[in-house]
Amino acid sequence: MKAVVHDRYGPPEVLRVAEVDRPEPAEDEVLVRVHATTVTRTDIHMRAAKPFFWRFMLGLRRPRRRILGLEFAGVVEAVGSSVTQYEAGDRVFGLRNGSHAEYVCVRESGLIARIPDNLGFEEAAAVCDGMSQGMNALRAGRVGPGTRVLVYGASGSCGTATVQLGAYLGAHVTAVCNAKNVELVRSLGAEEVIDYEREDFTRNGQTYDVVIDAVAKHSFLRSRRALAPNGRYVATDRLYNFPLAWITKWIGRKKVVFDVTGYERDDVLLLRDLLDAGKYRAVVDRTYPLRDVLEATRYVESWRKTGNVVLTISHDEKGARQ
Ligand SMILES: NC(=O)c1ccc[n+]([C@@H]2O[C@H](COP(=O)([O-])OP(=O)(O)OC[C@H]3O[C@@H](n4cnc5c(N)ncnc54)[C@H](OP(=O)(O)O)[C@@H]3O)[C@@H](O)[C@H]2O)c1
Repeated sequence: MKAVVHDRYGPPEVLRVAEVDRPEPAEDEVLVRVHATTVTRTDIHMRAAKPFFWRFMLGLRRPRRRILGLEFAGVVEAVGSSVTQYEAGDRVFGLRNGSHAEYVCVRESGLIARIPDNLGFEEAAAVCDGMSQGMNALRAGRVGPGTRVLVYGASGSCGTATVQLGAYLGAHVTAVCNAKNVELVRSLGAEEVIDYEREDFTRNGQTYDVVIDAVAKHSFLRSRRALAPNGRYVATDRLYNFPLAWITKWIGRKKVVFDVTGYERDDVLLLRDLLDAGKYRAVVDRTYPLRDVLEATRYVESWRKTGNVVLTISHDEKGARQ
C-alpha cells in the first residue's frame, strides 16, 4: 500500500510517499481503507521531534514509527475474528497513529465510530483531533452553563472546536481571531468576537471566568488582567505552563491549568452524536491529494490555516456502504 513515510526527524522534506506492507487486522481489530486523513499540529511536532521530549516517546535518534497521521475516515475492508460491531463496508472515522496510509488497523474498542450519513469522508476526517483538544481544554477550565469563556486563536483546529463545544455546553463564548474569520466563528456559536489585530482583549475592561489559549500564542501573564478573580487560564501547549500551573495552584487566586488527558473514546462517540444531530460542524480549509503531503504540511506549518487541512486518498469505491 502507499503511505507517507519519514526515516529521520527534520523539515517537511523528510516526508515521502512510499510502498509499505499493508497491515493485517488482529482478532479484535478492523482494517480501514482510508479515504481521508489530515495534517495536524501533532504531526508537525512528531516529524520535527520538536520539542525534544518527543524523541523519548518516538525514538531518540530516528523515528521508530515511520508513518505519521492521526485522524482517519474510510470504509471497513475486513474485520478480525472477534469483532462484532463492524463489518466490511461500514463507513468509519476516528483517531489512529499511522493514518497517512491507504490502510490502517484500529481496535474495535478504540477511537473509532460510524460516520453519520450526512457527512463525507473529508469532513469526517477533520473533526476528532480538534474536538478532543477542545473538549479537554473546556474540562480543564471547568466550563459549563453560563461560564464566561474567551477562546484565543478561535480560527484554528483546536479553536474552532473549542468555540463550538463551549457553546454546546451553554457557556458564553467570546472568540478572538483575525478579521477574516469573524463570521465563521460567529456561525460556530461565539456570542462575541474580537479581532486581535484591532483590539487587545486584555485592555478592554472585560473579564472572563476562563481564557483558553487554543493556539498557544498568548500567555498567562498577559491574560491575567482579563481573568475574573478566580479565573483559569487554560494552556494547550508550551512546557513553561507546567511550572506555572504548579505555582499558581498554591499562590494567587488566578490559576494556570493544563490538560494532559489525551484522547477519549467517549469523546469520539459524543462527537458522532453531535455531528449526526447537526450540532457540530467540520471546518475544512484546504484539501490535498496524499501525494501533495509536502505542500499540505508547509501550509499547516504557516500557522495560517483556518480549521483543518485534509489529505484525500483515492480508491475504487466498490463496496462502500452508506
Ligand atoms: N490540532 C489540534 O487540535 C492539536 C493537537 C495537539 C496539540 N495542539 C496544540 O494546540 C495549539 C493549536 O493547534 P492548532 O492545530 O489548533 O493550530 P492551527 O489550526 O494551526 O492554528 C492556526 C490558526 O491560528 C491563528 N493564529 C495564528 N497566530 C495567531 C496569533 N498570534 N493570535 C491569534 N490567532 C493566531 C490563525 O489565524 P489568523 O491567520 O487569522 O491569525 C489560524 O487560523 C498548538 O499549540 C498545538 O500544539 C493542537
